Amino acid sequence: MKVLIATEKPFAPAAVQGITNELKGAGHEVFLLEKYTEKSQLLDAVKDADAMIVRSDKITPEVLDAARQLKIVVRAGAGYDSIDTAYAKEKGVVVENTPGQNSNAVAELVFGMLVYAVRNFYNGKAGTELMGKKLGILAFGNVGRNVARIAKGFGMEVYAYDAFCPAEAIEAAGVHAVKSQDELFKTCNVLSLHIPATPQTVKSIDYRLVNLLPKKGILINTARKEVINEEELLKLMSEREDLKFITDIKPDADEEFKKFEGRYFSTPKKMGAQTAEANTNAGIAAAKQINAFFATGDTKFQVNK
Ligand code: 3PG
Repeated sequence: MKVLIATEKPFAPAAVQGITNELKGAGHEVFLLEKYTEKSQLLDAVKDADAMIVRSDKITPEVLDAARQLKIVVRAGAGYDSIDTAYAKEKGVVVENTPGQNSNAVAELVFGMLVYAVRNFYNGKAGTELMGKKLGILAFGNVGRNVARIAKGFGMEVYAYDAFCPAEAIEAAGVHAVKSQDELFKTCNVLSLHIPATPQTVKSIDYRLVNLLPKKGILINTARKEVINEEELLKLMSEREDLKFITDIKPDADEEFKKFEGRYFSTPKKMGAQTAEANTNAGIAAAKQINAFFATGDTKFQVNK
């Protein structure tokens, strides 16, 4: 089978090597399309692909229509909001993700960015420490659990809320479970977002909710930019000079947020999963899932059943 690795933001070279070995070992041919800048390049590359491995690459109806041989697309990562899963289903294309494979990388970045923020972006002025502060984790999935583990090492008090995870499971991980999203925001000095972008969560992080954060609150987003109501957050930050917002997913209103000097930071590119280890874990998991699909019809990780 022909397997296309299509990544606008490439994997680390070691990961590409590992993925290629895995697929070739099962007798598949491997094609690589990296750092493409035009949609036409992707449309051309998918023409005779039987399978695809992608990251946040946009797999739209146009791409799926161009990929006439496509049977499976695996998103090497957790969030699959970049793929039109319903249209893929209509076309009989299996969509899978690789949950948990890059979550430690995202969680470590949360703390890299948090230390940077509480030390005033290294401007030389006295900052604060994380020890003893209350950290709120919104959604207790694979990333949220890793964030909790690392936060304990920093000596933080850890709280979480997840609409789909029972409080007992959160408490079992040694984390305080709160009863609502509002309670989490009211309680915590630092709020870390780990919710997916769904019709229910898009723009849900709004003026009212963020305004519940105590004085000098920090909002950190390593989830999806779509969950933030940017207009309302801009308004709130202009009213509350104590708030900080840091993110690894550049908001659409990046230029406007930049006006809040010393209170806003965004990485130029989405960086959470950008480690050799995460690329290798997620990429090889994707390759193994493709091998299993063609060998036995395995669809354990299908997200568009
Ligand atoms: C994910 O959903 O797995 C992360 O957001 C990482 O996405 P990326 O592969 O585009 O860096």
